[in-house]
Amino acid sequence: MKSLTAVILAAGKGTRMKSDIPKVLFPVAGKPMLQHVIDTLGKLGVSDIFVVVGYGAEQVRAAITGPVTWVEQRRQLGTGHALAQAAPELDGVGDLLVLFGDTPLLTAETLQGLIREHQGRGNAATVLTARVPEPSGYGRIIRGSDGCVRAIVEEKDANPEQKAITEINSGTMCFAWPKVKPVLARLNTDNVQGEYYLTDIFALLVAEGERTGAYLTGDCDEVAGVNDRIQLAWAEKVMRSRINRVHMRQGVTIVDPSTVWIDADVEIGRDTVIMPNTHILGASKIGGRCRIGPNAFLDSCVLGEGVAFRYAVAEQAAIGDNSVVGPFAYIRPGSNIGSAVRVGDFVEIKNSEIGDGTKVPHLAYVGDAKIGSNSNIGCGVITANYDGKKKNPTYIGNNVFVGCNTNLVAPVKIEDGAYIAAGSTITEDVPAQALAIARSRQTVKPDWRKGK
Ligand code: UD1
Ligand code: MG
Repeated sequence: MKSLTAVILAAGKGTRMKSDIPKVLFPVAGKPMLQHVIDTLGKLGVSDIFVVVGYGAEQVRAAITGPVTWVEQRRQLGTGHALAQAAPELDGVGDLLVLFGDTPLLTAETLQGLIREHQGRGNAATVLTARVPEPSGYGRIIRGSDGCVRAIVEEKDANPEQKAITEINSGTMCFAWPKVKPVLARLNTDNVQGEYYLTDIFALLVAEGERTGAYLTGDCDEVAGVNDRIQLAWAEKVMRSRINRVHMRQGVTIVDPSTVWIDADVEIGRDTVIMPNTHILGASKIGGRCRIGPNAFLDSCVLGEGVAFRYAVAEQAAIGDNSVVGPFAYIRPGSNIGSAVRVGDFVEIKNSEIGDGTKVPHLAYVGDAKIGSNSNIGCGVITANYDGKKKNPTYIGNNVFVGCNTNLVAPVKIEDGAYIAAGSTITEDVPAQALAIARSRQTVKPDWRKGK
């Protein structure tokens, strides 16, 4: 395959979304639609990518990553006009892929098929098409008797006979750029929407005697454009089921895929079992042999091997091998939990390090703390990390025993092997191996209730 350049059109406002957010930034499986298109081109090895932006250009630039060159379309005068803005950047280009930023379901395999068809037939222009049961809203493909694409007619310009055609324009096209470039300059706005339609390229090329064609894909999901929130929800569903299938093929058990949401860039090791009602989001990385869910929410987390995580929430946190989390635990950003750690019910951990083998089994708050290994944090322990002005750190060493219902008023240090009596409010550092008791002694008044 010869080297390729791609232009993605992403300048439109997306009027039908009824939103202040540019349409191409709406996420599908946790990633902006435009980013999906860029990443798919990356898989294909296309590195020369131009993105035409206009509406919300600054916002789009800030949200997208990848090696792309930005081109500005100041006024959104149509898809043909959008491509024309990139033309000055395309000198010397041979074959050019043109894609839309609102077609997130397209795969690299299908693009490859389109390119092969285009190059194999030596076409001036080849369009990716599909036959869809519900073609309304799409441009219709008018074929010539020899199978060429004589024209593409937009829904709004189509007569009833043309509207009955079910083969539609996906918007994805492959051009022999030296042949298309001069024709692009001749597009006009003589249509119902008063826009420069890129689709008119086909009729113009045919009139010049150039060869045009279509690559008809059997997967009509892939070509779907997202123009409103109903189509967005549908694309989300298709993408999620596709992602789940990829993980299952790679050896992950997903007990009930219909209730499991895994974002596009998540990695999961083999023999991990995902129970129902589980969300794994962002760039989370889950090791093998884990058991996640039911009812788990993990956003941008890294989990080791053999972690059990059920009925719990974790965000931007790391959890080491064979640790057990939940039920009803909340692990907040900046937490780094070691191996074989137990984080039990109604425990909140924020921005803290928990060493290997340590247990925080129930009803505790651990914030801005560093805890060593094999320590036990009793039921109801609180790190009082906030003094009303700023957050203060708590340090707990290895093999420390913190008795139930202890307040650790930070900043405070509990050294290795220390023992804190239950119900203490600790305001001063405790040396290694010491016992600290910080509560008033119990008073018992015999027969006190008698005669009351
Ligand atoms: C377009 C096609 C239609 C096709 C459908 C596939 C045209 C004229 N119509 O219609 O044949 O079936 O996509 O989904 O090409 N854009 C710009 N600048 C503009 C206008 C649009 O960059 O001035 C970008 C948009 O950001 C979007 C893409 O081009 O990513 C398509 O625009 P959209 O308005 O969604 O076109 P459709 O009506 O869906
Ligand atoms: Mg569209």
